[in-house]
Amino acid sequence: MSRYWSERFSKEGMIWGSEASPSAFWAKDRFREAGVTSVLIPGAGYGRNTKVFSSDFTAYGVELSLPALELAAEWDPLTVFIAGSALEIQLADTIDAVYCYDVLHLFLAEERRRLIEASLAQLRPGGLLYFTVFSDEDSNNGRGTMLERGTYEYKEGKYAHFFSEADLREHFADTEILETGSWTERLHSRHNGIHQYILRYLLARTK
Ligand SMILES: C[S@@+](CC[C@H](N)C(=O)[O-])C[C@H]1O[C@@H](n2cnc3c(N)ncnc32)[C@H](O)[C@@H]1O
Repeated sequence: MSRYWSERFSKEGMIWGSEASPSAFWAKDRFREAGVTSVLIPGAGYGRNTKVFSSDFTAYGVELSLPALELAAEWDPLTVFIAGSALEIQLADTIDAVYCYDVLHLFLAEERRRLIEASLAQLRPGGLLYFTVFSDEDSNNGRGTMLERGTYEYKEGKYAHFFSEADLREHFADTEILETGSWTERLHSRHNGIHQYILRYLLARTK
């Protein structure tokens, strides 16, 4: 997986452009209302979304791909980027919130469990989590080879887990779920033109 992303970041640079997802602004407002001061961003990419948080909070981005980290250091110098896996604990101290955009669906069941477990372990009690994932209503759901229940290799060498509302809630059963929903995300980039897909989100609090 890390080779796939590194090759893409090396070739395409800022793959999804420089504009942050509307979800980052929405999550930031919820975090601010809750008095958050520090945010962890697992699978931070080149910092497209971290920048929304680093302008107001202490922000930590965890990312495996070195080409992405090089882009991120330039694009968002205020975030502290950590080269490493989001499936493992990276911070010495707990933080107030986690924002994780389009990373959880990239993994098979065991690794999804580890990403959520690592995120929860780095949050303080009463901390907030905001995750986005591919929805089972997206047109790629069910395409190609099924690897596990709900997980499809929908393009050669590329797979994802497609979440129903119930499945998403089940993944976060150990938290207090505050809100879930879905929307159509539209991405504009120089290399790929306009691309859209259906995402689900979940806002939760640690117990
Ligand atoms: C679909 S991209 C999303 C990037 C970013 N969240 C954004 O909003 O632009 C998935 C990202 O997760 C990173 N990634 C994949 N596996 C990872 C892991 N185990 N630990 C940290 N980052 C990982 C990839 O390198 C890539 O940057």
